[in-house]
Amino acid sequence: MRRRPTPESFDPRQVRPWNDRLDGLGFGGDYNPEQWPDDVRLEDVGLMREAGVNLLSVAIFAWATIEPREGELDWGWLDDTMDRLHAAGVQVALATATASPPPWLTRKHPEILPRLADGTVLHQGSRQSYAVTHPVHRDYALRMAARVAERYRDHPALALWHVDNEIGCHVPRDYSEAAADAFREWLRARYGTVDGLNAAWGTAFWAQRYGSFDDVLPPLTTPAQANPTQQLDYDRFTSDALLDYYRDLRDTLREITPHVPVTTNLMAHSTTKGMDYFSWAPELDVVANDHYTIAADGERQVELAFSADLARGLAGGAPWILMEHSTSAVNWQPRNRAKLPGELLRNSLAHVARGADSVMFFQWRQSRAGAEKYHSAMVPHAGTDSDVWRDVVHLGRALRALGEVRGSRVRSRAALVVDWPSWWGAELDSHPTGDLRYMDQVQAWYAALWRHGVTVDLVPSHADLTGYDLVVLPTTYLVTDADAANVAAAAERGATVVVTYFSGIVDEHDHVRLGGYPGAFRELLGVRTEEFWPLQEGETARVVGKAVGGDATVDLWTEKTHVADGTEVVAAYDGGPLAGWPAVTRADAGAGQAWYVATRLDRPGLDALVGRLVAEAGVGPDLAAPAGVEVVRRWAEDGAASWLFVINHTEREAVLGDDGSPVAGTELLTGEPVGGRLTVPSGAVRVVRAA
Ligand code: GLA
Repeated sequence: MRRRPTPESFDPRQVRPWNDRLDGLGFGGDYNPEQWPDDVRLEDVGLMREAGVNLLSVAIFAWATIEPREGELDWGWLDDTMDRLHAAGVQVALATATASPPPWLTRKHPEILPRLADGTVLHQGSRQSYAVTHPVHRDYALRMAARVAERYRDHPALALWHVDNEIGCHVPRDYSEAAADAFREWLRARYGTVDGLNAAWGTAFWAQRYGSFDDVLPPLTTPAQANPTQQLDYDRFTSDALLDYYRDLRDTLREITPHVPVTTNLMAHSTTKGMDYFSWAPELDVVANDHYTIAADGERQVELAFSADLARGLAGGAPWILMEHSTSAVNWQPRNRAKLPGELLRNSLAHVARGADSVMFFQWRQSRAGAEKYHSAMVPHAGTDSDVWRDVVHLGRALRALGEVRGSRVRSRAALVVDWPSWWGAELDSHPTGDLRYMDQVQAWYAALWRHGVTVDLVPSHADLTGYDLVVLPTTYLVTDADAANVAAAAERGATVVVTYFSGIVDEHDHVRLGGYPGAFRELLGVRTEEFWPLQEGETARVVGKAVGGDATVDLWTEKTHVADGTEVVAAYDGGPLAGWPAVTRADAGAGQAWYVATRLDRPGLDALVGRLVAEAGVGPDLAAPAGVEVVRRWAEDGAASWLFVINHTEREAVLGDDGSPVAGTELLTGEPVGGRLTVPSGAVRVVRAA
């Protein structure tokens, strides 16, 4: 990879806040005027005013419109757009226009096309058809970004640079020649010598020893299982290569406009495995996230909350931008259902509750043509006489009423660890079970905490854990010595640390930590697992113990675990080959405690356990709410004010504040005073500025 170093003259203090010219919260979406004639574009501006739009992402897929033939540039439409938006009081997150190369480029340089592992070329005719590592593509992309930056550097509508679009979305792993070259270069930098690589990859096994970096390939299709560390390193390399592309574009922009903040829209949610966003986030001036709910998921508000909390975790707690979500149906799920009445407002404000200072959509106007014409938008095919448009206008009004929450932060004393290297490592092949999915484990714990009303911070295991009273590590398979020590130190200081099965198993090279599992956490937890005992598909076992609600059903995973002196067995297997062996243990650790959960508990069992952990760690919510009612508080940075967000996902009216924690203040969406008791109708949202 040939990235130029960040210009030395660059001073991060000169970067303007992305929202310094906005009143209150941002509101808008992707705007693609190149798809429409001028009369529609003029109508757009009037409708944007009606809805209260103040922020739009523009020119994301505009390369072929700006440069239809090489070197022939048409800026007229974009100049008009920028001027009109400025006149309408709309700020712009202006894209580098690089998200899809124009057809003339891939025809002239087919070598920039990405490839699958079996060699299949991903051709022009859709989007993102480029290999991020290809030097020819890189040159063209940087030139395009520089042209956009030169042209609009002083435009008063320019608020923020939007680099490319969802980098890595469609081609998270590229196996082109360019990628193979860049991988070898990355390995040279990581290991220095080929002996270093051989040691890390354990190549004494199966005659895989390399004599030269030139012999190394990406993990292509092989006769038997591929080397796991090679696969793991390809994940690391891929994430780094995609980030490298972002940084190169960012630095090109910074050279021209050092004062303009730069971001790219992340996809921080449960299926984005390709990019280690904790290594990306520090490179963004503001974290921007895209999130779409899954219509078939009956509890999609929980996955939404997970994504929002992950965006906040990536932002280190700072406010972030919700760069895309949908007003109603999407077009890429097997069955694309419209959102239910009130769901749009609930979705949008759930993101705001969890730290978003801007609410944006894909896209402003629903396309007439192209692959996304059945994807909802702010202006639907039906026009303005539609529930979607009325909901959009209503949301705009709600966001204006909530302007004062801007800049405030969520506080949490519970942390749930999310580590991409563990995600990559835990799902490698030839493991004790092929059924284990890392994110299932993380999300099961997240959901149980959500059901207990606990707002958690999602952090990596290398995060500063000071200040957390509860730290949960679900299937944190791969940890460095330093990360394991960081976790142990949290318990020493007084936190309750919870580690689940298949954690701490390997080091950063995917080499097993010997002497009994879970090697990295054995001492902290006071346990030593002799052998894994995964269950067959559909097989369950029974676990008994008060901590899991008396008895619980478990599946997926069990193991034969010994406890050290002083470690308490709080739940054990009842019957089956492991009858009597520990399933859940607890040990004192410094001023805190360390729990080990050696199996996958069913929902009631996990809820019982989480209830006890939350109570013992003292991280319960400050306000009791009925099940299905989401409560999150944002605090002013100085702690002088707070805003309580209450989202009623149930079919019944909810009443809060009756149980000794009165809710008092002003409800911002209705403007009404709240005098101790807050009534939230079914499906409604309330935001109370605390008195
Ligand atoms: C992503 C992309 C958008 C659009 C939406 C559709 O988020 O960034 O361009 O394709 O998906 O949901």
